[in-house]
Amino acid sequence: MTTGAVSPSGRFLAAAMARHIDPLGDGLVVELGPGTGPVTQALIRRGVAPERLVLVEYDAAFCKLLERRFPRATVIQGDAFRLRETLAGKIDRPVAAIVSSLPLLNMPDSQRLELLADAFALMPPDGRFVQFTYGLASPMPKKPKGGRPVVAFTSEVSAHVWLNLPPARVWIYRAGAETTLKKSPGADVILKLKARADRMKLDLRETRDKVGNEIRLRKDRVKLGLEKSAMEKIVLLEDHASKARAKKLRDR
Ligand SMILES: C[S@@+](CC[C@H](N)C(=O)[O-])C[C@H]1O[C@@H](n2cnc3c(N)ncnc32)[C@H](O)[C@@H]1O
Repeated sequence: MTTGAVSPSGRFLAAAMARHIDPLGDGLVVELGPGTGPVTQALIRRGVAPERLVLVEYDAAFCKLLERRFPRATVIQGDAFRLRETLAGKIDRPVAAIVSSLPLLNMPDSQRLELLADAFALMPPDGRFVQFTYGLASPMPKKPKGGRPVVAFTSEVSAHVWLNLPPARVWIYRAGAETTLKKSPGADVILKLKARADRMKLDLRETRDKVGNEIRLRKDRVKLGLEKSAMEKIVLLEDHASKARAKKLRDR
């Protein structure tokens, strides 16, 4: 119920989450439900300084593990669904972004939206809340069951990360309403086009990152191959030289 997953997120999903975080800012990056730390690792690999990371985890054993794995990050054992309380007095800088792997689908709509409202209250207007889900729909519901929305937000979603088990998608939420275009004629079409453009932008970014990774991998392989063949040549030469030395000694 609290872990919400049978295994940690794979590196492709973790990288797909980290991709939405600016590594160069100096605000804090708060991670909710870091578990054993695959997303934390991806954030650091992306270039986010560990000192900027605040890891909010419920489970005491995971917290101990996180402290060992990421000694320069701040680990807070607490309840992410009471975010402002949990962070009170423990952070000294503004929060730039929030990355969450919380099992939101196990929670009622109202609780998810209260969390989003809390998250926006902690961030500047351009702050983003990044969440992955195995579900098909947005885990933050626009029309919550049994109540009125407590927070206005806009959202974009990544393509499926098929290389994760189970496949997942990443949602990015920002504060604000999506209503301005709704009243004008053709607004739905404009919103759909905008959503499609956002998806294409995300897909492009993901493809660019994938290609970059592939090129880096291939370069490493070529380098390793070259190093291996150079080593083999050296071994052959050394072998040849020692045989020549042995022959010289024998001839004497
Ligand atoms: C689906 S796991 C994700 C773990 C890891 N980030 C990953 O991607 O593999 C959810 C994590 O959220 C933690 N969690 C669940 N409810 C929480 C809460 N209310 N506050 C803080 N952490 C919570 C669980 O202990 C678990 O580590």
